[in-house]
Formats: sequence, C-alpha cells, structure tokens
Amino acid sequence: MTNALAQVDWELLHRTAIEAMERAYAPYSNFPVGVAGLVDDGRIVSGCNVENASYGVGLCAECGMVSDLARTGGGRLMAVWCVDRSGEALMPCGRCRQLLWEHGGPECLLQTPLGVRSMSEMLPQAFGAHNL
Ligand code: THU
Repeated sequence: MTNALAQVDWELLHRTAIEAMERAYAPYSNFPVGVAGLVDDGRIVSGCNVENASYGVGLCAECGMVSDLARTGGGRLMAVWCVDRSGEALMPCGRCRQLLWEHGGPECLLQTPLGVRSMSEMLPQAFGAHNL
C-alpha cells in the first residue's frame, strides 16, 4: 500500500470532494456529502448527494461519482475521499462501499477518519463479480 499511497494527490482529492459537497442538493437531511476519486488513467471524478421529496429515492454522493466515472470513460478507481460538510473524512454507507468495490476492487484506497485504508479492509469478504 505504501507505493500506491505515494502516487495519490490526496490534497487534490480532498479539495475536489469539498467542491462537490458544496454543490450537494440535501434540503431534507441537511447533510451535504461530496466525494472524489482518482481513476487509473489519472482522471479525477466526483459526486454529491442529490435528495428527493420521495426520501428513499435520494442519491448518495458516491452514486454521482460512479456515474461521472462511467460518463467520462470508465476505468478503475484507485483512491477515494468522501467528505461531510466540515470537509472531514466520511465513511461511505454500506451500499456505497459496494459501489466502490465494483469500480475499484480490493486495492482501492479510501481516506477514513483513522487514515487511509484499502477497500478489502472496509468491505471484508465482499460479494462481487467473482461470485457470479
Ligand atoms: N450520504 C451519502 O451521500 N453518502 C454516504 O456514503 C452516506 C450518506 C447521504 C445520503 C443522504 O442524502 C445524506 O447523506 C444523509 O444520509
């Protein structure tokens, strides 16, 4: 993980995640979230949460980010930083860890309140494409 860590511009990811969070549409929870990810070709993708009057239909920030990933050419997520309104690292919800697993796999790095961790640590014994 040390090598992979050195190649990530965490400062840029953090800044991009905060910018995304500032665009969140979260009038119901008042809990804006932003996320940014580094793609294996060097692109940065991002997303914010977008809520709905039909509460259950709301989209997490990570949903927007994986849509941005697909829309801008696909690829693999190498590192991800999700933030709350204070810019503090926010742990992706269970569903969104599954999204990160799908597009980043076990090696993808995640910034957490306890430091950088791999997705294999954040979603142990994950269900994935290899199960199908
Ligand atoms: N939220 C995210 O965008 N990502 C997460 O990983 C956790 C939760 C959003 C969903 C909802 O709009 C708000 O945070 C409060 O749950």
